[in-house]
Amino acid sequence: METLSKICRIRELLEPEKRAGRRVGLVPTMGALHEGHRALIRACRQKSDVAVVSIFVNPTQFGPSEDYARYPRALEKDLELCRAEGVDLVFAPEAQEMYPKGFATRVRVEGLSEKLCGAFRPGHFDGVATVVLKLFEIVSPDFALFGEKDFQQFVILQRMVKDLNLPVTLEALETVREKDGLALSSRNAYLTPQERHLATGILLALQAGRACFEHGTKDPDVLVALVRKTLLESGIETLDYVTLIEPETLETPIQAYPGCRMMVAARVGRARLIDNVRL
Ligand code: PAF
Repeated sequence: METLSKICRIRELLEPEKRAGRRVGLVPTMGALHEGHRALIRACRQKSDVAVVSIFVNPTQFGPSEDYARYPRALEKDLELCRAEGVDLVFAPEAQEMYPKGFATRVRVEGLSEKLCGAFRPGHFDGVATVVLKLFEIVSPDFALFGEKDFQQFVILQRMVKDLNLPVTLEALETVREKDGLALSSRNAYLTPQERHLATGILLALQAGRACFEHGTKDPDVLVALVRKTLLESGIETLDYVTLIEPETLETPIQAYPGCRMMVAARVGRARLIDNVRL
């Protein structure tokens, strides 16, 4: 496995692979890799001739009062996991390499980026779109894999790929969960044991909403109210949002239908946790 930090070296290494018609897959990450990332890496390995993982805690997607400085970093452990999973190439640049002095470009996917998490984290998705577009330009992957936990991120990136005619296919993999249902996230590391227990209430509330839909309730307001009530009753009191959305527009449908997503963003202790289920 090669670990590289320079953009020119990545290009040098990947150009002959692309010319030879080998299929390049990319798993973009911010490191602190967990089983969710492992699932993405395994899927990437299976579908590609050359599996690339990027590890970069991207400063432009963090707001000034957010957790950029304390975001978990574990490069050596991450490299071990990548090696064990048969990754061919890890791209782990410094911030200076990605954003040299004078860097002035931002990519914004308008309309989708201001909703849901975007309303609570202004500029967050501009940072995500910008760094992912850069990664696509650097690696030129045939496909890239993301987790469904970050559903809004995936919808935004799909829109970007379509709008800019990027020659890459995006795929989202189902959320990987702990045994008790908590969605895996690098930010779970912020939870105390008590908060960790509380956080299991998120999936239970989402499942209550889905069960209600399966029993015939189609009114989004009723479904959302049930999820909200279940969250509050479980002791999760700080909710950024609970909402039902259509998967492409992120708008609330008039009536719930199979394929809609129930979305939650909640604060538990110092952690901001997001999760969603498909109805
Ligand atoms: O989902 C993430 O880990 C990040 O938002 C991504 C896609 C790697 C961009 O920094």
